[in-house]
Amino acid sequence: MRIAIFLTALALRSATAQSQGTAGLITGKEIFEAGCAGCHGGDGKGAPQSTIGFETPDTFPDFTNCSQTTPEDNLAWKSVIRDGGPSRGFSQIMPSFSGALTPAQIEAVVAYVRGFCKGRGWPRGELNLPRAIATEKAFPEDEVVITTTLNANGAPGVTSEIIHEQRFGTRNQIEISAPVDFQRPAPGRWYGGLDQLGIGLKRVLLASDNSILSAQGEVILPTGNPAHGLGTGVTTFETFAAFGQLFPHYTFLQIQGGADLPVDTSRAPQSVFFRSAFGKSFAQNGGLGRLWSPMIEWLGTRDLGTGAKNDWDVMPEFQVTISKRQHVRFGAGLRIPATNTTGRQKQVMFYLLWDWQDGKLLEGWK
Ligand code: HEC
Repeated sequence: MRIAIFLTALALRSATAQSQGTAGLITGKEIFEAGCAGCHGGDGKGAPQSTIGFETPDTFPDFTNCSQTTPEDNLAWKSVIRDGGPSRGFSQIMPSFSGALTPAQIEAVVAYVRGFCKGRGWPRGELNLPRAIATEKAFPEDEVVITTTLNANGAPGVTSEIIHEQRFGTRNQIEISAPVDFQRPAPGRWYGGLDQLGIGLKRVLLASDNSILSAQGEVILPTGNPAHGLGTGVTTFETFAAFGQLFPHYTFLQIQGGADLPVDTSRAPQSVFFRSAFGKSFAQNGGLGRLWSPMIEWLGTRDLGTGAKNDWDVMPEFQVTISKRQHVRFGAGLRIPATNTTGRQKQVMFYLLWDWQDGKLLEGWK
């Protein structure tokens, strides 16, 4: 009933505006107040339960809460506004405005809604580029990723790594990684177990509209058994910088460079690494639907020591969103040694990613 009233009010206003040939007359504020405030509240925090007359879902947004709104990119919001809540696996109470608002009006109301977050320094959701398999991104995340690596030739081996990432404050993130390896160095003999556990801290140093730079420090603990090929047995400090650049047409570049510094260099060498990913995203459904992101990674490591060689790999890969909400994604690629190839294997790598800030794992699929 109430929804009908808002929509009618809005339709009337936009009809008037359009009949004057100036649909653009309506500002974001006017659109919001006519079509959205009844549910979302004039202050963006959500209208009181007593006036809206429906039970608000857990994910009902408070637009003044920057930690909740800034990780969302504008495409996600436009999709929900144009096609309604169910287009992203949200409640159908959030109506579709496809008939009532022009793309320009949707643009204007999104810009207005963005204004409810008064905090400064929050990197915008657009900088959360599609995750590459090896190149770590600069954007701080709330997510769990399980990556599996299979040797595609040579001695069989499987590694699965689970990573938990959690944001805190405007620009920080803590990360815990636990790799589990299974190796078969000789036929009939499998070794398996926990490799080196890592705990890292990331901080965004710079974030503009189109680029983001972060630094991370990490301690990698000697939890694995080196006799069975599980880690080096030496505590290692890792440090790196990660950079992300968004170009026009959803093309992007990500670069990560850093060093692994074991405390005992007689047991494990120091090494430096460089990783980069270049890709482009394609969205179905007029630019607002399922997102496909093909990428190519160029990955190098070099031990610091005399006679050390550079190991370069290339990895063609893609990422695709699999849940409607786009909070569950899948990525797969083939890592191919490009230089110094003796004894280095091709590897099939794939991951499943869950952005838990956006909803429960099984929520948001239909
Ligand atoms: C009839 C009530 C109602 C109206 C009118 C309404 N919304 Fe919503 N909106 C909701 C509800 C409920 C949700 C939460 C859905 C959920 O979490 O499942 C929501 C969610 C959203 C989201 C959040 C999506 C996310 O990623 O978390 C955005 C953005 C949004 N609305 C914008 C708008 C705008 C802009 C308008 C006006 C043009 C509007 N809404 C009008 C009820 C409404």
